[in-house]
Amino acid sequence: MPKITVIGAGQVGSTLALRLSDANIQNIAVIDIAKNIVEGKCLDLQDAAAAKKINSKIEFGDDFSLAKDSDIVVITAGLPRKPGMTREDLLRKNGAIIKDIASKLKELPVEPITILVTNPVDLMTAFFHAQTGFNPKKIIGFGISLDSARFANLISQELKVKASTVEAIVIATHGKDMMPLPRFSYVDGKPVSELLTKEKIDNLISQTVQRGAKIVSCLGSGSAYFAPSAALFTMIKSILENDGSIQGASVLLNGQYGINDVFIGVPVKLGKDGIEEIIELELDEKEKENLIQAAVELKKCTISV
Ligand code: APR
Repeated sequence: MPKITVIGAGQVGSTLALRLSDANIQNIAVIDIAKNIVEGKCLDLQDAAAAKKINSKIEFGDDFSLAKDSDIVVITAGLPRKPGMTREDLLRKNGAIIKDIASKLKELPVEPITILVTNPVDLMTAFFHAQTGFNPKKIIGFGISLDSARFANLISQELKVKASTVEAIVIATHGKDMMPLPRFSYVDGKPVSELLTKEKIDNLISQTVQRGAKIVSCLGSGSAYFAPSAALFTMIKSILENDGSIQGASVLLNGQYGINDVFIGVPVKLGKDGIEEIIELELDEKEKENLIQAAVELKKCTISV
């Protein structure tokens, strides 16, 4: 029976734990430094499971030994960027959190597959790799599968088709440099680039890039968590079921797309060992140049904690 550990019992972490329990995942652990918060959330989650006659075991606390024997660990711990906070401040603060968590996960007897959610996620994923030295095939940065879901939703609304008929792809960084790719996004097998005008596509791309910020501004405090937890759940399910599905993730590139030694978002095949294969799309010159430029920007950032 698989075991999933969620680190960070905030909005994303607790909603993910609920989705896992609702899906009958039997072993769930939730870890947070805020002891009362994790206790309150998990007591509620345990009651929710009982209300639905689900037998999930949900353990919780601030002790990282709870993560022992996990197949997958999801790191959602961190701070969102607050008004007045510079990018460097965020890098330093979340970097310190990732460093702390990495040092604890290194003590586990078996290396789990680790999915990072903490932003800026491409940099935090690379930093986690540097701190742990874990096998990069087992280190997955989350983010562009969420952006792909957002792009797919917007395409389905524009074309008035069912969301389930849309396959959308976004690559590069989970942030302002993300690249939604209409040529590689399909509705019932037809590329979106052939279904909509350039003007309409540009509008959907811009809405996709702005989606997270729009949700933040509507909410007033906090950020999105329904779609992030749903996209995380889809990723975890693919790994557990070894279904070989293709999803976007920030992974270590070593030569693919002409990029070396950078964690950046590309389509990957997921399976029981983590990243089974990195898919190389046939990008045109402009797309390739933009992806390489995004990688150059990532490489320029250093995290000093
Ligand atoms: N170890 C464990 N938990 C921690 C640590 C740590 N070192 N530091 C912070 N946390 C916990 C906080 O106590 C809080 O409960 O992480 C949780 C974060 O929850 P939220 O603030 O609600 O954040 P959430 O909306 O869930 O976003 C999760 O996604 O967008 C990214 O960078 C963003 O890190 C954030 C993550």
